Amino acid sequence: MATATAKAVQRLHFNLPPLPYPEDALEPVISAETLSLHHGKHHKKYVDTTNELLAKADMRGSTLEDVVRSSQGKLFNNAAQAWNHAFYWQSLSPKAAAPSAAMRQRLERDFGTYESFVDKFAAAAIGQFGSGWAWLVDKDGKLEVIATPNADTPMAHGVRCLLTIDVWEHAYYVDYRNQRERYVQAVIEKRLNWEFAEKNLK
Ligand SMILES: [Fe+2]
Repeated sequence: MATATAKAVQRLHFNLPPLPYPEDALEPVISAETLSLHHGKHHKKYVDTTNELLAKADMRGSTLEDVVRSSQGKLFNNAAQAWNHAFYWQSLSPKAAAPSAAMRQRLERDFGTYESFVDKFAAAAIGQFGSGWAWLVDKDGKLEVIATPNADTPMAHGVRCLLTIDVWEHAYYVDYRNQRERYVQAVIEKRLNWEFAEKNLK
């Protein structure tokens, strides 16, 4: 049947994006074991489940962002987690680097000082009850720090994301056990990808 064929051709399918660096590139802050499990098992599962659900859904659009913005329930949870994780890998860098002068100026304009931003970002990540994410976002031209529970993502609400930290236990339990604050502080201090943040801002 022509209709069925057309539908089959249009069916959405997403691939697990490769990590933008080797699995051991974030050591000692995040171990290769964590990255292997987190990307190869957790992130992969979200992508696979999204594809399974899309195979049964009548979903329009062409991008993962489209799916996240137009879905709810199980499909939203899996598609948003697929998107959040791809964004998280890019939010991290193998090299410890400070924000550029321009980025630092923006942080100082909207948070007062760079240190004040760091305190707010750490507090949002450490203070998120249960699973979730901490974000640096650009909301209507102003930089803000927010936290979202479970799979929720600012992108679904039309807010521009600049950086994120995953605070689901699977992100840090192998390396830090229950000490989320040590993971968060090490990531903020040594592994944030400020070039990525600045690119997202433009
Ligand atoms: Fe995760």
